[in-house]
Amino acid sequence: MKEIINVELRTRKVDFSKCKTCLLAVGQFSDAKELDKLNKELDGKLGGSISRLIKLGDFKGKDGTSEVVYGNGQIGASRVLLIGLGEKKKATLDTVRKAAAVAANKAVSMKVENISLALHRAFGGQFDVAAMGWVCAEGTYFGSYRYDEFVTASENGRLASLNVELIDPDSAKTKKLNAGLLSGAVIGKAQSYARTLANRPANVITPAELADIAEKVARGSRNLSCTVFDEKQMSAKGMGGVLAVGSGSQNKPRFIVLKYSPAGKAAGGKPTIGLVGKAITFDSGGISIKPAAGMEEMKLDKTGGIAVLGTIKAAAELNLPINIYGIIPSAENLPSGTSYRPGDIVTTFSGKTVEVQNTDAEGRMILCDALSYAVKQNCDIIIDIATLTGACMVALGKYMAGLMGNDDKLIKQLQKAAAESGEKLWHMPSGGEYAEEMKSKIADLKNIGSKWGGACTGAAFLRQFVGDKKWAHLDIAGVDVFEKATESSAEGSSGFGVRLLTTYLMDLAGKKR
Ligand code: BES
Ligand code: MN
Ligand code: ZN
Repeated sequence: MKEIINVELRTRKVDFSKCKTCLLAVGQFSDAKELDKLNKELDGKLGGSISRLIKLGDFKGKDGTSEVVYGNGQIGASRVLLIGLGEKKKATLDTVRKAAAVAANKAVSMKVENISLALHRAFGGQFDVAAMGWVCAEGTYFGSYRYDEFVTASENGRLASLNVELIDPDSAKTKKLNAGLLSGAVIGKAQSYARTLANRPANVITPAELADIAEKVARGSRNLSCTVFDEKQMSAKGMGGVLAVGSGSQNKPRFIVLKYSPAGKAAGGKPTIGLVGKAITFDSGGISIKPAAGMEEMKLDKTGGIAVLGTIKAAAELNLPINIYGIIPSAENLPSGTSYRPGDIVTTFSGKTVEVQNTDAEGRMILCDALSYAVKQNCDIIIDIATLTGACMVALGKYMAGLMGNDDKLIKQLQKAAAESGEKLWHMPSGGEYAEEMKSKIADLKNIGSKWGGACTGAAFLRQFVGDKKWAHLDIAGVDVFEKATESSAEGSSGFGVRLLTTYLMDLAGKKR
């Protein structure tokens, strides 16, 4: 099987215009009165070809756009890639990240193997230099990512690796860029890893296979351990929710628990975090079967669990001084003679009973057991991430994930991490009336609410399994996948959640970007 593109990142002290490179990426704002200082210098040496491009209106600096200008022997680069940064006053670190992603995406499409980024230059003193190194590294991984491991016949092939250098003539700056780059590369790599697992289809990633992968990840780190419960062990524990959902498939369910414990007493005084991720390897809807059109997308119903796996992998590589549980309930939701059915009453791990009114509301059935497990492990803060409801997609579209929770401070911290990571969240309600709707007449709870507010009632169901622990829920239905390729990304899994959750953990650990 083909490996994903190998990204090599480094910094180099070199003069921008003298830098010998196949492609030099530079940024340009759309509202700048004149060319950015570096671009002006390049333009002079290129006999005005950049300013002509702009004068003709072929490049306006619009966010996400890019144009290639060819070298003429007077500068070190054989190509200059102009990247639009949009309006200067609207720029954030995500603008820098996206510019790097556009550059890397373009380089892979053009099959240019060695590129030099001078993107941080245009932002002057606006952002911390190390932070810019960080987001450039994340963006480079993000933009260069491709998923083609099962394509055996390809006319043009693609790059096996992309070598990226962040350049600056000032060694104090390259040093700072490098400090950020090291963390950014760990996160970027973990995100690409997550995207590949997510993109793999359900005949390749079964719950048992996902468990094997989690065990392999744990073996790769001294501070990670992994425990997997099979059906028998789940039965003994009374994990009725996961068992019910998994009962219709030959691919038996698994309950995966990763534990990260930093070396020594590093975590003293810090809360223990429980990350809980939905990993339905395929969601047909079960007996309450989904329509055929688009059902293939439900191979991506495991992305919450995979985001947890990617995050804990990054946290271990970054040696974060926090204890973290990664709890990943995994099952395949299929209709068969052994499936759970509408009307069934299931006793969950918590002891609470649930009346199943729709077998397609299966995410909450597996998450409730995992949330109770996190409570039993005494996690102080529990964050779950799940492709839980189509209703969340109806409410927010494909740009932001739903954020629900029972603790204002945790909500604020996650909103901060969202702004920093560029993985956006929107706060929605989940208490009061929404929770009221989830009561059943013949059991403690039912698994669907009324016709309206499905994202909120879904969260309200989960809320009842966390006791008095601090809890937040991320509904990533919609944001976990790009339907089409964009200027900064290939189509398929977006890896949403890896940057967000790792950033949250780093903030908690007091690690500076
Ligand atoms: N995995 C789906 C949610 C989903 C839908 C994710 C579309 C991504 C794209 C989830 O298991 C589901 O089927 N939810 C139901 C809940 C309903 C039966 C209460 C839904 O959204 O229709
Ligand atoms: Mn479903
Ligand atoms: Zn689902």
